[in-house]
Amino acid sequence: MKFNAFWVEKTENGFERSIIEREVDDLPEGDVLVDVAYSSLNYKDGLSASGSPGVTRNYPHTPGIDAAGIVAESTSTKFSQGDEVIVIGFDLGMNTSGGFGAKIRVPSDWVVKMPDGLDLRSSMIIGTAGFTAAECIQKLEMAGLSKDAGPVLVTGATGGVGSVAVKLLAQLGHEVHAVTGKSDKKDFLVALGASEVLSRDQIMEGLEKPLLKETWAGVVDTVGGDMLFNALKGLRYGGSLAACGLVGGPSFSATVLPFILRHVNLLGVDSVQLPIGEKEIIWNRLASDWKVDLSSLEEVLHLDSLSGAIDRILKGEMVGRGVLHY
Ligand SMILES: NC(=O)c1ccc[n+]([C@@H]2O[C@H](COP(=O)([O-])OP(=O)(O)OC[C@H]3O[C@@H](n4cnc5c(N)ncnc54)[C@H](OP(=O)(O)O)[C@@H]3O)[C@@H](O)[C@H]2O)c1
Repeated sequence: MKFNAFWVEKTENGFERSIIEREVDDLPEGDVLVDVAYSSLNYKDGLSASGSPGVTRNYPHTPGIDAAGIVAESTSTKFSQGDEVIVIGFDLGMNTSGGFGAKIRVPSDWVVKMPDGLDLRSSMIIGTAGFTAAECIQKLEMAGLSKDAGPVLVTGATGGVGSVAVKLLAQLGHEVHAVTGKSDKKDFLVALGASEVLSRDQIMEGLEKPLLKETWAGVVDTVGGDMLFNALKGLRYGGSLAACGLVGGPSFSATVLPFILRHVNLLGVDSVQLPIGEKEIIWNRLASDWKVDLSSLEEVLHLDSLSGAIDRILKGEMVGRGVLHY
């Protein structure tokens, strides 16, 4: 049985991308075979498609860390043919053939049954990026964030994680401040629910100072680097920063002062290895009390427009969520 797939090969000229027909027999072992209906583009897919060894070690490869589709075959008692399912994270699209192919075969303990209240397409507009935004907000709540505590800052705000975080936080009643490098996207962020839009230069002011004015009750940080630490220095007493990304770099210089004088928390967020039971809880929230209409964020992609979108996400130029339709 054949299926269409995006294909990344290592050649003497670097990493080359194409669309090919693949054989189902070439997919890895797994007890669930899924006909993929939608996938979505995440920053990590850009890394996988351009040969980043921290993401994908073995080429040729089909990236795609997200997939939503219909179970075609299952030897697991948890799933039956015809079930609608979501698969994100674990090894999907890293070293396991991913959602940029029209079929995936995966272990059943990577698979979540589609909750009532979500459908295949809306689950992939959320995708790993939106799921991670929700995970950050859940972690901030668990650390004490309430909507009366003060504004919440979102960095990398026009990106996948950032745009969903802005929209969901605003819907939950938080005052949202958004940082963006795109001066022409202020209206977009205000329409999503941001009450204040800051430039990257503004957020980097006072980098040399040990502490900044107490402004935010919480931060969803997708950027990392020194922007992360400057945002942490601007937290109100007892506030928290959820760190999930590194588009601005993995390292930052820091002092202990915000921790010991302002009682702030630096919270780590990982969506990849999060146990499946915890993933199910967050998907169920996104289908019920955290259900959010993200249709305005969707950019429809097909296999033949994926490569251009990958180039844009690597340059930080994507806005919202690129959703791959089969
Ligand atoms: N921990 C996890 O499980 C997890 C899950 C999903 C994603 N992530 C990480 O989260 C980050 C964001 O992912 P994404 O899918 O949302 O990516 P994305 O769609 O490319 O969004 C990232 C945004 O960050 C901003 N940005 C880009 N380069 C920057 C730079 N050099 N300095 C400052 N800001 C910059 C841009 O927004 P503006 O132009 O608006 O500033 C860009 O749109 C990535 O590092 C990704 O690996 C982690």
